[in-house]
Amino acid sequence: MFKKTATFYDALYHFKDYEEASEKLVTLIKQYRPEAKTLLDVGCGTGKHLSFLSRHLQAEGLDLDLGLLEVARKRCPDLTFYHGDMCQFQLDQQYDAVVCLFSSIGYVQTKENLSKAIQNMVNHLVSGGFLLIEPWLYPDQYWEKHLVANYADQPDLKIAWMYVQEREGDTSLFDIHYQVGTKDGIENFQEIHQMGLWSDQEYRDAFQKAGIEAHYDQKGLFGRGMYFGTKSK
Ligand SMILES: C[S@@+](CC[C@H](N)C(=O)[O-])C[C@H]1O[C@@H](n2cnc3c(N)ncnc32)[C@H](O)[C@@H]1O
Repeated sequence: MFKKTATFYDALYHFKDYEEASEKLVTLIKQYRPEAKTLLDVGCGTGKHLSFLSRHLQAEGLDLDLGLLEVARKRCPDLTFYHGDMCQFQLDQQYDAVVCLFSSIGYVQTKENLSKAIQNMVNHLVSGGFLLIEPWLYPDQYWEKHLVANYADQPDLKIAWMYVQEREGDTSLFDIHYQVGTKDGIENFQEIHQMGLWSDQEYRDAFQKAGIEAHYDQKGLFGRGMYFGTKSK
C-alpha cells in the first residue's frame, strides 16, 4: 500500500495537525479511564501521533508496513514498535487504551476483517480499557468518480498527487498517481489504495460483537468522526 510512498508519507499529509488530535485524544482517554498509563496505536504509520501521545502515556505502535515503521522508529527511537497485521497480531500484554487512527481500519477491506480487527484490539485491552477508532467513509456518502488532487510543497521536495475515487464492491478504490520532484529529478509512479466502505451500523455491530457499546462523535479528532467505548470490567 505505502511501498513507494513511505518516505514521503509525512509530506503528503502535511495538512494534518497531529499534535492537536493527540491532545484531544489524551483528554478523552483520561475522561474515560483516568488511571490510563499505557496505549497501543494500531496502524501507527510514521509514528507522528505517538510522538505526541508519548508525552502523556507509555505508548507503543504496530503497523503492517515495514517502510513506515522504519520512519516511525527514527522519529521515536525510545518507543517500542511491532510489525503486525491488525486482524491477527498477538502481543503478550494488554493496554489501558488501544487506538486506530486516520482511517487505518479501512485497509482491512472486508466486513469480516473489520470484526476480526476490532475483536483483536479489544483482546489487547485491560478490563475497563478504552478503544477508539477513526472510521473510513460511509458507503452512502462516498463520492464515486470524484476527482481529487493534492500538492505538497517543501523547498527540496514537491509532490503532485491525484486520483479518481472509484468503487469496487464494498470498497473505495484509489489508483493514486504521484509526481515527485527532488533535486535529483522528477519521478512518476502509481499506488493502489483499496479500503472497506462500512455503514455506521456495521461499525457499531463490530464493536457490539466485541463486547463494547460504541459511542460516536461526528467531528472526532480530525473531522472524520470517531467510534469509542470501554471494555466492560
Ligand atoms: C492512512 S495511514 C494512517 C497512519 C497513521 N495512523 C496516521 O494517522 O498517520 C494507514 C496505516 O494503516 C496501516 N495498515 C494498513 N493495513 C494494516 C493492517 N492490516 N494492520 C496494521 N496496519 C495496517 C498502513 O500501513 C498505514 O500505516
